[in-house]
Amino acid sequence: MSDIAAPLAGRTALVTGGSRGVGRAVALRLAAGGAAVAVNYRRDAAAAEEVVAGIAAEGGTAVAYRASVDDTDAVATMVQRIRVDLGPIDLLVSNAGTASRGTPVADTDEQEYLRLLRVHTLGPLALIRSLLPDLRAAPRGDVIVVSSAIVDTAPGGGAAYSMAKAAMETAARTLAYEERASGVRVNIVAPGLVATDMGERLVAASGAPTLADLDARYPFGRVARPEDIAGVVAFLASSAADYLTAQRIRIDGGGPDIPIVAVPES
Ligand SMILES: NC(=O)c1ccc[n+]([C@@H]2O[C@H](COP(=O)([O-])OP(=O)(O)OC[C@H]3O[C@@H](n4cnc5c(N)ncnc54)[C@H](OP(=O)(O)O)[C@@H]3O)[C@@H](O)[C@H]2O)c1
Repeated sequence: MSDIAAPLAGRTALVTGGSRGVGRAVALRLAAGGAAVAVNYRRDAAAAEEVVAGIAAEGGTAVAYRASVDDTDAVATMVQRIRVDLGPIDLLVSNAGTASRGTPVADTDEQEYLRLLRVHTLGPLALIRSLLPDLRAAPRGDVIVVSSAIVDTAPGGGAAYSMAKAAMETAARTLAYEERASGVRVNIVAPGLVATDMGERLVAASGAPTLADLDARYPFGRVARPEDIAGVVAFLASSAADYLTAQRIRIDGGGPDIPIVAVPES
């Protein structure tokens, strides 16, 4: 197949949190571009297998792997299994994530900060460390971090989540500069509100109407869809973005979003 039809042919991607929402759309999109895709999930095996089946139905290659990104041992086991099943990973989309409990700084204890840092920052960094030898050895290696536009506004009730995302963004930009010589690109996408389960919970918790009701108030007449994020991720992983690294792309229709505050745990 040509580069245009299959821009990611020959590549092996790991999408954390690939079973639902943004990660699901990313997994489907990368597979459609020709990549073999490891679909990571935490709890919902049926959702992950549905993504795998969808990819297989289109003639693609995918396998589901259970591991919580904050569980170092489970992640190490997953990486070993992926190497055996699909080969070395040369494209990581660090997407898995949960929201914080929505408490103000005055009422947020250290455990909550640590919980969010483990999922959004420390777990992904441990995963990246373990993948770097393979990313460096590949003709091209990519790390794409799914952050959030919330980092720019830091709304009340979101400190634990916003801090963890901001910390990961800083680490990712640092990594981008460190790894230029090895050919590894590191980029960040920062969505505003996205129509996913998490997005639906954020909207409900903020007292706003449903996501569907918000469409008319958002840029281009709709809240972002997971596919909007997946398209940008696929571009960043493609040869069209060969000369891009250390970049952060906001995907929020130009923003600003309606501030979404309370964020219950999934
Ligand atoms: N939705 C938004 O409005 C929005 C806005 C900006 C940024 N984001 C970011 O986009 C990313 C995806 O969010 P989403 O809206 O797609 O969320 P979602 O609909 O709640 O889906 C979350 C996905 O991540 C997985 N996951 C959650 N915790 C995990 C863990 N500890 N280890 C491994 N997998 C885990 C889930 O798997 P299980 O089902 O098995 O638990 C699921 O596949 C997150 O990083 C989020 O912070 C979302």
